[in-house]
Amino acid sequence: MYSDLISFVRDWYQTDQLIPLHEPRFKNVDKEYVADAIDSTFVSSVGEYVTKFEHELGHYLGVNNVVAMVNGTTALQLALKIAGVREGHEVITQPLTFVATANAIVHNNANPVFVDVNKETLGLCPDALSRFLDQNAEKKNGKAFNKETCKLISAIVPMHTFGLPCKIKEIVEIAENWDIPVVEDSAEALGSKVSSQHCGTFGKIGILSFNGNKIITCGGGGAIITNDDKLANRAKHLTTTAKVNHQWDYAHDEIGYNFRMSNLNAALACAQFTQLEGILKDKRELSNSYSLFLKDVEWCDYVKEPEGCTSNYWLNAVITSGKKERDELLRITNDSGITTRPAWQLMSDLKMFKDCQKGELDNAKWLRDRIVNLPSSARNNV
Ligand SMILES: Cc1ncc(COP(=O)(O)O)c(C=O)c1O
Repeated sequence: MYSDLISFVRDWYQTDQLIPLHEPRFKNVDKEYVADAIDSTFVSSVGEYVTKFEHELGHYLGVNNVVAMVNGTTALQLALKIAGVREGHEVITQPLTFVATANAIVHNNANPVFVDVNKETLGLCPDALSRFLDQNAEKKNGKAFNKETCKLISAIVPMHTFGLPCKIKEIVEIAENWDIPVVEDSAEALGSKVSSQHCGTFGKIGILSFNGNKIITCGGGGAIITNDDKLANRAKHLTTTAKVNHQWDYAHDEIGYNFRMSNLNAALACAQFTQLEGILKDKRELSNSYSLFLKDVEWCDYVKEPEGCTSNYWLNAVITSGKKERDELLRITNDSGITTRPAWQLMSDLKMFKDCQKGELDNAKWLRDRIVNLPSSARNNV
């Protein structure tokens, strides 16, 4: 039943070798930029490529500030901290996400609370969020507290799953009504938009990842993006060990972090950034082809970008008819050298998070048992 899919993927990538789920694409320009950073001797967190990357990315996203960091996880950890998340607070997020989302909350000594996702966007569901808050939260002195635990709900973290934009406008509106800041986990969504606005720029703060499996990569990297200059300055200060700016003196005015992106990584990031449009274009072509090819098959539905949105199609996804069918597809494709993958296990099922508060998670559970990601790399020869 899946042999046509296997042939389709092999034809697309023109190879008999193992086809990964998502591999990085490197060109000569990548080597040239990295060599230039080495030649400059500025390889750590001070250097022209860091500033260049921050400016170019900010311009592309239409956002005032970008703070380049060592990875997406630390970017999220710090974004939550500067948004005001503290020990003992609660942070609402979705259970269908990569573990880094929930980890970053706990790295701030706060507690994740899991609210259901939409079947269509695979991201946090505004209706479920609204319901959860109406049932479980109350406002005191203009802030939202969990009625049962009496803890402050200090952030909401929606995630744009596989690059598909979630219903971020609706989520931000609900959050504003409750005076809860939104920190957007856009790790997977560079190049994705709602209308013409980039994902990651709707909330108070957004974050991106440039891990090796992401749409562009610098090995390991991340960024905080925000229109709030004060928050950006605070992020820059904290990520560079809270060092007080001085020509030669070494003073630090609080406990900081060594979380700034290195110039060496930033050189690669700049080089990759020059290829972003080409990569997005090739991924869109692949998505159109998958969509067409899978249009009439009975064994799955292809997950298309929500209406009015542009997905970067970081990872293409299908919904199978059930867990048995999902496992069969995973087995047959992986046995044939075509890497496919199920969705992550739900955060609420992991032992570290199983005691966290959660709403009804029917959609997340339904999706968990049915999602399969298909090979999604941009081709090397285009
Ligand atoms: C949703 C999500 N959040 C956060 C991260 C963390 O990014 P990084 O791997 O750069 O730390 C990732 C990716 O890896 C991710 O997919």
